[in-house]
Amino acid sequence: MDLRGRSFLTLKDFTSEEINYFLELAAKLKADKKKGITHNTLAGKNVALLFEKPSTRTRCAFTVACADEGAHPEYLGKGDIQLGKKESVEDTARVLGRMFDGIEFRGFKQEHVELLANYSKVPVWNGLTDTYHPTQILADLLTMEEHFGHLKGLNFVYVGDGRNNMANSLLIGCSKVGVNVTILAPKSLWPQESLVKECEQYGKESGASVTITDDIDAGVQGADVVYTDVWCSMGEEDQAAERVALLRPYQVNDELMKKTNNDKTIFMHCLPAVKGNEVTEEVFEANADIVFDEAENRMHTIKAVMVATLGNKCLI
Ligand code: CP
Ligand code: NVA
Repeated sequence: MDLRGRSFLTLKDFTSEEINYFLELAAKLKADKKKGITHNTLAGKNVALLFEKPSTRTRCAFTVACADEGAHPEYLGKGDIQLGKKESVEDTARVLGRMFDGIEFRGFKQEHVELLANYSKVPVWNGLTDTYHPTQILADLLTMEEHFGHLKGLNFVYVGDGRNNMANSLLIGCSKVGVNVTILAPKSLWPQESLVKECEQYGKESGASVTITDDIDAGVQGADVVYTDVWCSMGEEDQAAERVALLRPYQVNDELMKKTNNDKTIFMHCLPAVKGNEVTEEVFEANADIVFDEAENRMHTIKAVMVATLGNKCLI
């Protein structure tokens, strides 16, 4: 499959075959790395890593993936460049595009990552915006595939803030690859109706169901995966008290996990986690192996995205 030159801004832009290709490539890169094999597919490439918001996993994943495949990563943090302040995003994009071969962006506006892609003319990878977090979803799907041996037909339940970047992206990713997806959240935190309609359409093509509910007992019934994220995303800290009050009944705890009536349900989290809020220490620790596989898989999947869109050879 030839994905060279493509940007990775939202999973909406990719077919289920393309998403599965990223997963297959990531699995190969992971297996090879465990054997001490890397491929130098990004030799001679320079990659800009733009971070308006903080990051542990995403920054480290891009940096290590670049080093493994022979590229030079350059970190440009919040205070380092003029993006959107003293210089327009379009101008910064044109400058970076003249010097770098690929650009990662983590920030607030989805519109900015789109402008970067349109104006830089090099592949741009979305490392999280307020709206989407698509590289995280590849890591989540890879982790589920490793654990269950397949994706199609799994029952995936996301519990918590149902309209944040993670909920939006999981809804798209799961419905595209045939994973039955439920967003379990209070009505005021449901995803946008237009996004739900779009995902229902993806689900019709892949065979996945899409359910949005605020009913905890019915929502978690039969779940293979219970997934949550922080109740307050980066940039929303002023809403913390209100969110905690609203989401308290949706905490992932032993009682909620029992309601799945499935003793094989796994818990997943994109991290960082606020234990005692969205998940209890007990549920988190009982599933720590899965959660940290998920974190490790950020690196293998981000590497796959860069190798597929910027690499100098086709590995599969
Ligand atoms: N999951 C995730 O994106 O983590 P970071 O914020 O640490 O990059
Ligand atoms: N929804 C979270 C995800 C962090 C990886 C945030 O945007 O802060």
